[in-house]
Amino acid sequence: MSIKITETVLRDAHQSLLATRMRTRDMLEVVEQLDQIGYFSLEMWGGATFDSCIRYLNEDPWQRLRDLKKKMDNTYAQMLLRGQNLVGYRHYSDDVVEKFVTKSYENGIDIFRVFDAVNDIRNMEFSIKVAKGLGAHVQGTVCYTISPVHTVEKYVELAKQLDELECDSLCIKDMAGLLSPNEATQIIRAMKKEVSIPISLHCHCTSGMAPMSYMAACYAGVDILDTALSPLAWGTSQPPTEAVVAALQGTLYDTGLDPGAFEEAVRYFKDLKEKYRGILDPISEQIDTNVLIYQIPGGMLSNLVSQLKEQNALDKYMAVLEEMPKVRKELGYPPLVTPTSQIVGTQAVLNVLMGERYKVIPKEVKDYVRGLYGRSPVPISPEIIGKIIEDEEPINCRPADLLKPEYEKKKKEAEEMGIAKSEEDILTYILYPAIAPKFLKGEMEEEALAVAAPAPAVPKECAILTHFKVEVDDEVYEINIEPLGAGVSISGASNKKPGVETVKGGISSSMQGMVLSLKVKVEDAVKEGDTIAIIEAMKMENAIHAPHSGIVKEIFVAEGDTVAPGDVIMSIE
Ligand code: CO
Repeated sequence: MSIKITETVLRDAHQSLLATRMRTRDMLEVVEQLDQIGYFSLEMWGGATFDSCIRYLNEDPWQRLRDLKKKMDNTYAQMLLRGQNLVGYRHYSDDVVEKFVTKSYENGIDIFRVFDAVNDIRNMEFSIKVAKGLGAHVQGTVCYTISPVHTVEKYVELAKQLDELECDSLCIKDMAGLLSPNEATQIIRAMKKEVSIPISLHCHCTSGMAPMSYMAACYAGVDILDTALSPLAWGTSQPPTEAVVAALQGTLYDTGLDPGAFEEAVRYFKDLKEKYRGILDPISEQIDTNVLIYQIPGGMLSNLVSQLKEQNALDKYMAVLEEMPKVRKELGYPPLVTPTSQIVGTQAVLNVLMGERYKVIPKEVKDYVRGLYGRSPVPISPEIIGKIIEDEEPINCRPADLLKPEYEKKKKEAEEMGIAKSEEDILTYILYPAIAPKFLKGEMEEEALAVAAPAPAVPKECAILTHFKVEVDDEVYEINIEPLGAGVSISGASNKKPGVETVKGGISSSMQGMVLSLKVKVEDAVKEGDTIAIIEAMKMENAIHAPHSGIVKEIFVAEGDTVAPGDVIMSIE
């Protein structure tokens, strides 16, 4: 039986290799070409593309969808949807989910690939229901990971539940490239015995096993394979389309695609890759079997490197890699995919950087333990729950059941700001409230494509040497030098923040980040343990607590300021 191909070059491939930066105009040049090839579907929207469009490209993601769709006559338009998280990072209320799925469908999506980071079906069923109601094709997705509870039986059980929700097809999503040929065989064979809908396999090449697992999947009865045209294949992306098509030609699994049909599109993406060379991370192009040891998706590894660089702690890389599986186990073995990859990864980084485990716990980690992201695959031990949320009781219901309808309220907000011209704009605002207003007002700029090499890190000694003795006419003066302008990242963006040793009762930031909010004012009385500020670091919100009781004497930072480790935030005496 012939294998169908989903081409990911317009979504996952550039998300994996080019930090999701491919422009719509570069897609429009080639989409008609791709539409002629005979793919089953073209994955071209969702995942991180929505975020990247407004954050970096000054592009309207809805416009991208409409423009691409206009040029697609033969191929299904497919998107990746994070269930109740849509294309954002939190759970949205059902009315927002309904509106988003409806608008996505109306703007051109044919196939919704729906997943949930912890495989909690309750987080997927509402979006599935809405998409089904619209007449869309729904691909219910199971995230593949390795743990003592992620057995073949478990995956079959999930497949059966998705089948019961009337999904049109299933997807096994191997975001980290962990799926071995043998596991692929076992899982697909077992699923095929229980469900009759088509099964799609989505692997990343991170560990190098994906092409072999695809072959094994064919023998086991898989129906659809995800591939990317070779210039944007391999590494943390999908196996190359041309190679998979050629390998299956003339066999029982022949894709029916003409191996000669890719030439023009392949040439196009080869050239395009050169244009984007500056953002191509060489690490993500490589095969890395470390992923099998640490079970960390490729994208997360490069993310980790940049987080550690930002914190000036690249030397802790191995320690964090070793900490990661411990945190994942303690948090009940979630598959590592957005947003659980960030939740586990950031906690592991903090555990290592702080020199004490769970000393600093981001809000997102607490919310995860509270059950607000759904049920962890393995219940979290009472000891860990106590450590993270103390005597709070985790929830047991579907997280979205606790959310009040929010569409109308946000609509009013957006209208009052004068930023919403359409329902699509309102959804953009709901999904990205921090950056959407600026984007919708037309105040964003497209990030330059030629990304300069990162500035060399300032050696630690330079940053510390700010106190000098200067001799002038036999008189010795002691002066403090504070760096201004470029290169101040190590000591913070603001030049007024003193060092902790010089401030009585000074409380310093333990990490590089941005001051999201200040919870106290000068003259406020605070008790030991009170939250005094929230620092956004590594995409998570971290509360800074008062280490002692007292009165707030002075505040040295403003909301929006960047702080470095050691910068004094305020003094409490
Ligand atoms: Co993927």
